[in-house]
Amino acid sequence: MAEAKADSEKCTLCGGTGWTLVEEDGVELVRRCECAEEGVRRRLLEQARIPARYRHCTLESFEIWNPNDPTLAKARRSVQEFVDLYPSGEKGLLLMGSVGTGKTHLAVAALQQIMREKRPPLRGRFADFTALVLEIQMTFDGPGSSREILQPLIDTELLVLDELGAGKSTPWVMDLLYYLVNTRYLEGRVTIFTTNFSDFPKRTGEESLTDRVSHRIRSRLYEMCRRLELRGLDYRAERLASREGGLHR
Ligand SMILES: Nc1ncnc2c1ncn2[C@@H]1O[C@H](COP(=O)(O)OP(=O)(O)OP(=O)(O)O)[C@@H](O)[C@H]1O
Ligand SMILES: [Mg+2]
Ligand SMILES: [Zn+2]
Repeated sequence: MAEAKADSEKCTLCGGTGWTLVEEDGVELVRRCECAEEGVRRRLLEQARIPARYRHCTLESFEIWNPNDPTLAKARRSVQEFVDLYPSGEKGLLLMGSVGTGKTHLAVAALQQIMREKRPPLRGRFADFTALVLEIQMTFDGPGSSREILQPLIDTELLVLDELGAGKSTPWVMDLLYYLVNTRYLEGRVTIFTTNFSDFPKRTGEESLTDRVSHRIRSRLYEMCRRLELRGLDYRAERLASREGGLHR
């Protein structure tokens, strides 16, 4: 049997009951206390499948490290705005830019901050698109079904879909992506996408995001997301490598 807590250990907001009275628009409501929400929050964060490598990512730890790159500060500011406004902002984010510019870092930072701070606690998920495709392909020989993998991504309140347009785009993969994006679009759910592909490729012959994901998906993203571009250098090569005294200096 759980021992009763001493008075000094009890939550000062609810006295240990787990419930508080709040007033909203002149009406008194009973709400779950913050102290009872902490366990729920922790469990939801564990279920969000954020890769270990990115769990340290926050907006504070996103450095404006290159003074010649105005897109760093602009992107961080816009992601902060997105977090502050959530969930009333309605639009998601489309983080575009080349390799190592911090897109996944910012996407995960937003997801984690929202899941840690917003009340009531909400369900969120991280998914890497190429890993998702592989996972679904593997279920063809196994007991799981693709629906079981896809449905949580459709239902989750806030989704990070990383690496949009990466990997092999077979008709089957395109249909899958369309189904996921379109269902979230129809339900008005908020999604943060990241992609290496741009709308205006600089090099001739380079594919655009529309080439990679089809016009019908790109078109929906205009409505679903605010576009943020990171145009700078590869943080991995410029900062992480030189810090280890390796490649660069
Ligand atoms: N401005 C920054 N401040 C601090 N860390 C950063 C910054 N930009 C990137 N990083 C770190 O560098 C690594 C690479 O960043 P990230 O994975 O977010 O890049 P990306 O744009 O998603 O790259 P890719 O296109 O290869 O997926 C990560 O460990 C990330 O935390
Ligand atoms: Mg990335
Ligand atoms: Zn409490």
